[in-house]
Amino acid sequence: MKRIFLLCTVIFAAAVCSFGFNARAEASGKILVAYFSYQGHTAKVAREIAAQTGGDLFEIKPATPYPGYAECLDMAKAEKNNNARPAIDGRVENMADYDVVFVGYPIWWYDAPMIVRTFLEGYDFSGKKVIPFATSGGSPLEESIDSVTTSAAGATIQEGLLANDASEIAPWLSNLGYAK
Ligand SMILES: Cc1cc2nc3c(=O)[nH]c(=O)nc-3n(C[C@H](O)[C@H](O)[C@H](O)COP(=O)(O)O)c2cc1C
Repeated sequence: MKRIFLLCTVIFAAAVCSFGFNARAEASGKILVAYFSYQGHTAKVAREIAAQTGGDLFEIKPATPYPGYAECLDMAKAEKNNNARPAIDGRVENMADYDVVFVGYPIWWYDAPMIVRTFLEGYDFSGKKVIPFATSGGSPLEESIDSVTTSAAGATIQEGLLANDASEIAPWLSNLGYAK
């Protein structure tokens, strides 16, 4: 009887270890944290994600900087209405090296800014995991997910975060398995 109990314990422990190993393996890979930020809120979240995951940071910088707030509102709305793809200054030269790409942005007009779509359409994301995160004045992340999914063709989109409350970053990363 003791032997059977011992055997069951060993099998159970092996199963737990193997599950743990698989969970870690799923969440492994080289991480990039790419972000666009106009006023700095999303940039702060991106730095936090990079620090907590050990990922590399890349800022999506507009080739032509956005103007002051009131003008930017109009410009962003026009870009959305025109389905524009504003140009980016710079490139991730080694994108092929990354398995997981966090993509961050402020919600602009209830969606991802069009420059984020320029970014996503500029690379081959097939086989990569893309994880969106955003900050906003209250709009939910969900309204921007269709744009991310369409533009990051071939990627697996993982559960994102509206990171207006920074205390939600650590549990979210831990839940996804990307915390260092
Ligand atoms: C052009 C523009 C459009 C915006 N549209 C929205 C919106 O639709 N919903 C919302 O909740 N906040 C909106 N905001 C507010 C930003 O999403 C919010 O301030 C965000 O945290 C800014 O991030 P950032 O500092 O990284 O630029 C908008 C801001 C700008 C400049």
